[in-house]
Amino acid sequence: MKIGITGATGQLGQLVVGKLKEKVSAESIVALVRNTERAAELGVEARAFDYSKPESLVASLVGIDKLLLISGNELGQRLPQHLAVIAAAKEAGVKQFVYTSILHADTSSLGLAGEHLATEAALKASGLAYTILRNGWYTENYVGSAKGAIGAGAFIGCAGAGKIASAVRADYAEAAAVVLAGEGSENKTYELAGDTAYTLTELAAEISRQAGKTIPYNNLTETQYADILKSFGLPDGLAEMLADSDTGASKGGLFDDSHVLSTLIGRSTTPLATVLAEAIA
Ligand SMILES: NC(=O)c1ccc[n+]([C@@H]2O[C@H](COP(=O)([O-])OP(=O)(O)OC[C@H]3O[C@@H](n4cnc5c(N)ncnc54)[C@H](OP(=O)(O)O)[C@@H]3O)[C@@H](O)[C@H]2O)c1
Repeated sequence: MKIGITGATGQLGQLVVGKLKEKVSAESIVALVRNTERAAELGVEARAFDYSKPESLVASLVGIDKLLLISGNELGQRLPQHLAVIAAAKEAGVKQFVYTSILHADTSSLGLAGEHLATEAALKASGLAYTILRNGWYTENYVGSAKGAIGAGAFIGCAGAGKIASAVRADYAEAAAVVLAGEGSENKTYELAGDTAYTLTELAAEISRQAGKTIPYNNLTETQYADILKSFGLPDGLAEMLADSDTGASKGGLFDDSHVLSTLIGRSTTPLATVLAEAIA
């Protein structure tokens, strides 16, 4: 049995390969990557795989039984890229297609959800056995701003009082490994999120506690927040996506209390305070 992992040189993908190696033999894992040299340190077979080169995908999928498609990171390009992977998987005879989507893709208020929902629909229409991992927000996204907030004296965003049930990449990666190494997940959709939710006011309070100085949360309008992110040098599209996602969070788009993730991985998700302590140490 061969398990293919796309995006295996990315942050989530590397963690999935690592977790999967604890469950199945390294010989049964295939990293499907844009740059096979960079995949060498994964310690598994690597094959060239670029979502934007549809003509090359089928050959790289020969012999793959289960495929994890890690959603691409080129916003606006992802739907045609994902459709190409689905078509290739069908042609190559992949038996189970696992896809990393977004939390509550069908009802999400985040603009990011569109490409994911369209991918899910195409996957279901393909006739392939599918498993949809609707990953929530990465804790690393917000924690990554903690040091900057301590330096600036405030944490900013536009998520209002929205509750965020984030989890670390390693938690989502472990869930993917459980699904890929196990049985019985065909034609199922999993809503994956952290066990404990927090507002950005609560996150700022935890940063304050750990930093030993008061870091308030300043809630901005979506436009103000996007403009500040642009002034930090973020590309316009990324700044606007992050601000839109915060607005989505203010409407509950990043909240979930199903505990499906911790049930799947058989342990609690990694607490925010732990991740924060590592980040600001
Ligand atoms: N839940 C969240 O909070 C959140 C946040 C950010 C992103 N995401 C989504 O989750 C995905 C995984 O997250 P991550 O942190 O691992 O992101 P990442 O580190 O940016 O990794 C993305 C991976 O996708 C691969 N990729 C991009 N375009 C590709 C293409 N045309 N053909 C083949 N591979 C391609 C990249 O390949 P290379 O290694 O060659 O660059 C990389 O390995 C992201 O791509 C995005 O869709 C989720």
